[in-house]
This record gives sequence, structure tokens and C-alpha cells, in this order.
Amino acid sequence: MLNKSTRRAVLSALVFVALFLSPFISRAADFRREVVYQIITDRFFDGNSANNNPAQSSGLYDSTKTNWRAYWGGDLQGIQQKMSYLAGMGVTAIWISPPVDNLNTNIPDGNGNPTASYHGYQGRDFKRIEEHSGSASNAWTDFDNLVTAAHSNGIKVIVDFAPNHSTQDNAGEFGALYDNGTFLGNYTSDSNGYFHHNGNISNWDDRYQVQYYTLFNLADLNQEHATVDAYMKASALLFQQHGVDGFRIDAIKHITWGWQYSLANSIYANGDSFLFGEWYQTSTADPLYRDSYKYTNKSGISMLDFPLNTAIRNVFGSNANFSDIDAVLTAEAANFTWDEDLVTFIDNHDMTRFLTLLNNNNRLHQALAFILTQRGVPCIYYGTEQYLHNDTTGGGDPYNRPMMNAFSTTTTAYTLTNRLSTLRRNNPAIGYGSTQQRWMNSDVYIYERKFFGNTVLVAINKNETTSYPVTGLNTALPAGTYADTLTGLLGGSSITVAAGSGGNNPVSNFTLPAHTVAVWSFTESPAAPQVGVIGPTVAHPGVRVTIGGKNFGTTTGTVKFGTTTATVNSWTATKIVATVPVVTNGNYNVTVTNSSAQVSNGIQFTVLAAKLIPVTFTVFNASPTQTGDYIFLTGNTVELSNWATTWDAAVGPMLTPNYPNWFLNVSVPAGTTLQFKFIKIAANGTVTWEAGANHTYTVPASGVGFVNVNWQY
Ligand code: NOJ
Ligand code: NOJ
Ligand code: CA
Repeated sequence: MLNKSTRRAVLSALVFVALFLSPFISRAADFRREVVYQIITDRFFDGNSANNNPAQSSGLYDSTKTNWRAYWGGDLQGIQQKMSYLAGMGVTAIWISPPVDNLNTNIPDGNGNPTASYHGYQGRDFKRIEEHSGSASNAWTDFDNLVTAAHSNGIKVIVDFAPNHSTQDNAGEFGALYDNGTFLGNYTSDSNGYFHHNGNISNWDDRYQVQYYTLFNLADLNQEHATVDAYMKASALLFQQHGVDGFRIDAIKHITWGWQYSLANSIYANGDSFLFGEWYQTSTADPLYRDSYKYTNKSGISMLDFPLNTAIRNVFGSNANFSDIDAVLTAEAANFTWDEDLVTFIDNHDMTRFLTLLNNNNRLHQALAFILTQRGVPCIYYGTEQYLHNDTTGGGDPYNRPMMNAFSTTTTAYTLTNRLSTLRRNNPAIGYGSTQQRWMNSDVYIYERKFFGNTVLVAINKNETTSYPVTGLNTALPAGTYADTLTGLLGGSSITVAAGSGGNNPVSNFTLPAHTVAVWSFTESPAAPQVGVIGPTVAHPGVRVTIGGKNFGTTTGTVKFGTTTATVNSWTATKIVATVPVVTNGNYNVTVTNSSAQVSNGIQFTVLAAKLIPVTFTVFNASPTQTGDYIFLTGNTVELSNWATTWDAAVGPMLTPNYPNWFLNVSVPAGTTLQFKFIKIAANGTVTWEAGANHTYTVPASGVGFVNVNWQY
């Protein structure tokens, strides 16, 4: 008979082994080869009628489904029951609407109709599960069962996480926030300062307003407050302990940007995860586009690809030229260090469904095939595969959130998704490769994805009636004949490639029929190790990172950050887990060396000085400045940009609601004594340093921090 502590040790060892031997779940940090499916839990499937009208929030349910702003019965059990439907479609990850306990009351809309928070974006307790989704006790049971069922079907779980706000600030529960049942505070009597009280955002291009004002009367949380900071990080940890693989962070443009770096760092230190946020913008010409890619490149939080979404809708939905898409891909590849991690989509719950925009299934199939074969992590809005749409009053919110109408496994869109999901798994060119446009006119787009010798060539003709002769096309596919990977599902047929030179092999002339998508694929035989991804992209020593790629071999080799060897925690032919070594903070090239001493390509990684703590820096009297001049912060660690002085590299721009004082919340290394200065970067790029010695500040070991200094003249 084993004693209690030995039994416990054996049990946890078994759990540990079971986790590691799980046949299906690959590491969450690598999402580049996944296919995500976005679900509004309430609108997917009612798997349990017992939770439809719970006591603590009764009357929010409409069994007739005529009030589009009421609960309609879908729940976590419902998603669980449809897991094999999702797996059969090739879905490898689900993103579910915020599952946390939401507003318990209804708030009448302008016409007196009751509205409920069926969508999940009015959280009241981020540590409990909504009773309409789970059970009346707000317990985690149904959530845990869903995660278990998803994982055993090879499906990862992403939760929508909305730390920007609690509930509506002027009605209902007035923002009341609870910590696992204990009341913390509300907006109307906010003696602790848990909320910002600045009124609604009116200028959506003003950096201060978008972060510190209120989003549509949703009580705006003050993440710089130690209690709110700790609460949100603990809530994220709780979801990780309940098995989630990633977070879609709601409204990241409206949450203190600098604080989010520490949120990401805390999540990545807890365990491997994939983070992407909703930074709403329509194009790369958006006034805050530059801020968006700076945020993503430095925080390690990827984002939903809204500029590409606009182009996809214009090209496939409104018949714009393919050059619109091509231009966005080119711009984003130049601006985002990790454009392969951007989450691509055709439509979502905040815009009209594609078929409302254009009721043409051919075009829907083309747009789907496009995101499934392009760079980025494709995300499909629930019901797309069943051609779901409701066009009432233009089909916007809430009519873009109908109840799932069918679960057919034989639609073209369902089959298409399955085939291209399989291809994403089998050929790393799509997830890990680089993109090259090979042939284009207003209706035809032919592009190639290439990862070393692995190549996928895709041809799309969106014209409904005109076929095009394709002449002079080159490809990196080696000489040979290639069948359409879709086996003609969207009208494609085979091509023949002859030997050429310099990676340009001529394709025999062919005709691309009207409304056709064809996909041709080649995977090379094993060669030297090839690194396709690292996740996270930013972390401090001691955090585990996942390296995905090909040809690592089954015998453990070596991982190096620059010239420093890292501890390897696990090693397979396609995935390695290693621990960030103790090295000086900064950017490193990470390489993999296999057991026969072959070295891979390098991939960029940022080693932080220590775990991140959010600190609010204020500099008084940083004047005079002229319009277009901004104050930035720079200093002696990578978190402070290692004394960089350019707009894209230095920390900022800082915010000046009380000119000439400037402030910025920045996540900086815990317990570290920083040297820093403020600089002015003028509109023309001229840099002016403040005078005097460097400022110094020792960052607290935990919690949050504040620094107030005068600009030195
Ligand atoms: C963006 C979400 O996608 C939207 O549906 C929600 O209403 C707002 N953020 C506020 O949470
Ligand atoms: C150069 C600046 O001129 C100076 O003011 C600053 O203190 C140092 N960089 C930091 O090394
Ligand atoms: Ca239900």
C-alpha cells in the first residue's frame, strides 16, 4: 500500500504522462497550421434545455427566437455534442464567445425591447461560467467537459476574453464586478478607482481616448490598478488551468496597450498559448495602423487581420480587383514581423455575413479557399459551411448571429474546408512559408506559398462567366504533372511543369475556367532541419517556447539562442519545446541543430530581462512641442528599446491628456533597476534628448508601479 504522498506523486506523474502522450493535441503555441471556427455559444446548438431560463437571470430567454437580443438556448453542452461535426469539417480549434458570467438583467433598447448579454461581452465575474452556457451554479463542469471533448477530437479551445470592461455603466448592474462571487465594486460608486470615468470615445483616432475613454457605455476598467491587474491575470490563469489553448482578446485597441504586454507575458509564463486580439481598423491607411503593428511585434499578441478582411470583402464580395488583396499582403508582410500569425477571416459577428454582402456561393467558396491557403491562421465564422445568413435590415448585428440552421456534412463548403485543412496539416508551405504573387489580373490571382522546397500553388478565377488563358506562369513546383488537390471540387484540373532555373519553372499554358479554384502541392523529402514558427515570440528566461518545423529528427539535438544552448524539454521531428536560457535581454536568432549536426534557418525571438510588470511613467513639463511632435521613452533594456530613438523602436508615443505632461503605461522587467530618458521625436524625425543624467527606477517585484519625473532642461 502506497502512502498518501507517494500516491499523490504517482497520480500526478500519471496525469503528466497522459498530458504529454495525448495523441492529438500539438502545442498550442503553434497555430499556423490550424483552422479556427468562431462560435457564438448561444447561437450554435442547445444541448441542455435545463439552463435556458436560469433563476438568477430569468426572463432573458426567448424560446420563439423572435427577439434577436435575447438568449436562444445554445450552450457549452451543445458545442460538445457537435464535436465530431466540427472535426469532420477539418476544424482544429474553436473560438467560443466569452464564457464568463455575464450581466444578469435585461436592459431595454431604444424601442423598449429587452436586450440580454447573450453574446458574452458584458462580464460581471471573470472567474465563473455563465449560467445560460453551463449550469445554475456558475460552475466550470460543462466548460471542462467541453475542453476534454474538444481535445480528444484534436480540437483546441480558444476563449474570447474581454478585460476592457465589465457591464454597461449606466443601466442594468452598472458595471458591478465580482471576484468568484465576491463583490469588488461598480462604476457608479467607484471609491477604489477600478474604472475610468472619461465618457464615451468620440475620436477613434486619438490614442488617449481609445484606451482611456469608454467603449459604448461599457464600464471601462482601469487595468493599471493593482486589484484589476491581478484579477484579470488570475482569471486568464484560471482558464489556462481549465485547459484552454488560446485567447482571442476583445477590443485590444481600447485596453491600455502597454498593460497588455504584461498580460501576455503572464499567460505565456503560465503555459503555452496563442494570443490574438481584435484591433479594429479597415485598412493599412488607418491612422493607428502603425501603432497596431508596433503593438503586435513587441507584445507577442497577434491580431485579427482586419485590413485583409476589408480587401477580401471588396474583392470577392464587391468585385474589386485582386490588386487590393495583393497590396495588403505586401504591406503587412513588410510591417508585421509575424504576419503568418495574423488571424484571417471573411466575416464575423460584428459585420454582415459574406452571403448578405453578396449572395453567391461560388464567391464564398473562393474566399474560403483563399484564407485556407494563404498566410495567417484562417478563422471561419459558424454557419459559413451551411450558407447561413439572415438579411433582415441589411443583415448586420444582431441579424448576422442567427441560430445555426443545419449540420450537413455534405455541403461543398464543408468538404472544401476539410480538404484544405488536411493540406495545411500535410504541407508546411501554407502555414510556415513565404508568399509570392505569380500571376494576376483583375479577376485572377495565382500565388505560391513556399517553405524551403515545400510548395503550394493556388489559382483563383473569380469571374462568373469568363475563363482566362494563363500563359507565362512560373512556379517553384518541380517539373512534373500536378493534380488539383481539391480533385475538381471548385473546377480545377491538373497542370504540367517543366524544368526551369532559379526557382522559376514554367507551367504549360492552360485555361482557368470561370469561378474556379485550383490548388497544386508538393512536399520535399527530408533535408536539414527547417524552422517554421516559434511561440511565444517574446518571453523572459525560464519560459518554455515551442519551435515548430520539419526534419528535426527523432533524436534530441540542440536549440540555440544566438550562441547559447537552451534546455530542451521535449523533442519530436516537427516540434521542440525549449526553455529560454539566461542571456542578456535583446533579440536573438534561434536555431535548431539536429543530432547529425545539421543547422536550421534562424528565427527571431525577443528575450526579456525579466517577467513584466505594468508601470505608468509620467514626465512633467516636456515642452515645448509642436503638433506632430511626440515624447517617447527610451532606456537600457529591450523593454525600453535599448536606447532606440526611432518612432517604430522607441517606447511610445506617450499620451498627453494634460499637456505639457505626458504619460504612458509600459510593461517593464520586475525587480530591475532601469536607466531611462525621455526624448522628443519631431514630425520630421529629429530627435531631442532631455538633458542631465539618466533617470533610474527599480521596478517592483510584483503588482504595478508608477514613476513621476520632470523633463530635465
Ligand atoms: C468587439 C466585439 O467583437 C463586439 O461584438 C463587442 O460588442 C465589443 N467588442 C465589446 O465587447
Ligand atoms: C545617449 C544620450 O545622449 C544620453 O543623454 C543618454 O543618457 C545615453 N544615450 C544613455 O546611454
Ligand atoms: Ca440551453
